[in-house]
Amino acid sequence: MKPVKVGICGLGTVGSGTFNVLTRNKREINARAGVEINIIQVGARRENPACDLGGVARVADIFEVARNPEVDVLVELIGGTTVAKDLVLEAIAQGKHVVTANKALIAEHGNEIFARAKEAGVQVMFEAAVAGGIPIIKALREGLSANKVEWLAGIINGTGNFILTEMRDKGRAFEDVLKEAQALGYAEADPTFDVEGIDAAHKLVILASLAFGIPLQFDKVFTEGISNIAPEDVDYAQELGYRIKHLGIARQTAAGIELRVHPTMIPAKRLIANVDGVMNAVLVKGDAVGPTLYYGAGAGAEPTASAVIADVVDVARSCAQGGAGVAPLAFHNAADQTPNMLPMEQVETAYYLRMVAEDRPGVLAQVSTILAEANISVEALIQKEPQQDAPQVPLILLTSRAIEHQLMSAIEKIEALPVIHGDVVHIRVESLG
Ligand code: HSE
Repeated sequence: MKPVKVGICGLGTVGSGTFNVLTRNKREINARAGVEINIIQVGARRENPACDLGGVARVADIFEVARNPEVDVLVELIGGTTVAKDLVLEAIAQGKHVVTANKALIAEHGNEIFARAKEAGVQVMFEAAVAGGIPIIKALREGLSANKVEWLAGIINGTGNFILTEMRDKGRAFEDVLKEAQALGYAEADPTFDVEGIDAAHKLVILASLAFGIPLQFDKVFTEGISNIAPEDVDYAQELGYRIKHLGIARQTAAGIELRVHPTMIPAKRLIANVDGVMNAVLVKGDAVGPTLYYGAGAGAEPTASAVIADVVDVARSCAQGGAGVAPLAFHNAADQTPNMLPMEQVETAYYLRMVAEDRPGVLAQVSTILAEANISVEALIQKEPQQDAPQVPLILLTSRAIEHQLMSAIEKIEALPVIHGDVVHIRVESLG
């Protein structure tokens, strides 16, 4: 059988990891693919001391790889959405299959890229784009294909999870942990992508499109970061039996599909609440299988390479079988209608509220009256004794489930009470049961 020839573009952390693992585990990988896989060219401006290219030719111009008639599969590991998009479209136009780890590219330009790939009869694979080494794309496409996915919730940004874990376990401040995450190389080039939830939103959009058979709709994701999480919220969450995680949540409801990334309080007893440090996890609830949890390294050279190479193996297998095999992605649902996407104001969830209140009789009654008028009940309450006769005390409430816009308008009324000082902090609460 003719070997499958691979060109790798980008020789950074993931590029060098991919080269190294493909070389080191060549025998096992070829056996699983049922065909020999050879890297024949690397496109990178410079070599990376982390990997020895041996006899493999390196070209500085990545477009040479896309135009190399010998290359069957182009592996795009340069990142970004401008040059990477041109490179992928060029490779497709040249009739090559593409494997990419680029979440931003797929989330923002995937609809166009998949349409071009379909016309050209080639595959575009992206397992490594979401949750690094966890085979979550394969799980959704193949392992769960019998199910209607009801919802999924994921810790899909390692940097954010590392920050929240350090804040909880060591009482460290947000800024201090972020600096360490950058030094350790977990964070994106622009760390606001991690802490403001953009990176997680890219990944969520991809998961949701597979879970619900909908087009990629990055502009529809509600995104809130973790930079405003205060150490006291982390502590109060613990006291209430919860943990704060930065989750990407996609849910199919009767009213429409929710797509949201935000800090979320979840019961500490859930397995996913105990996913700490830079690790990722995705919880998927299927109607037939029930809840399933996928856990592993969400970033790093070799974990990400593991996912990239799994795609190369799938493509190689299908090339060896004459091109059939991996089905093109169907982003549209059976009725070919784009379902209603639920705006955040319409989403229903429970809430944690923290406010600073004057320490005198009737304050709690005023707050709970406002909530009751919005049909929101108080499920749990913490009020500490005032410190050294301080005139103000923190008041912490867990509410029943409520529609976001009703809760927000109740918060406005609470903030307007003369007995409440400053803003009311709110964090969404999910049981994930
Ligand atoms: N910055 C990302 C993270 C890398 O922290 O998860 C993997 O996408």
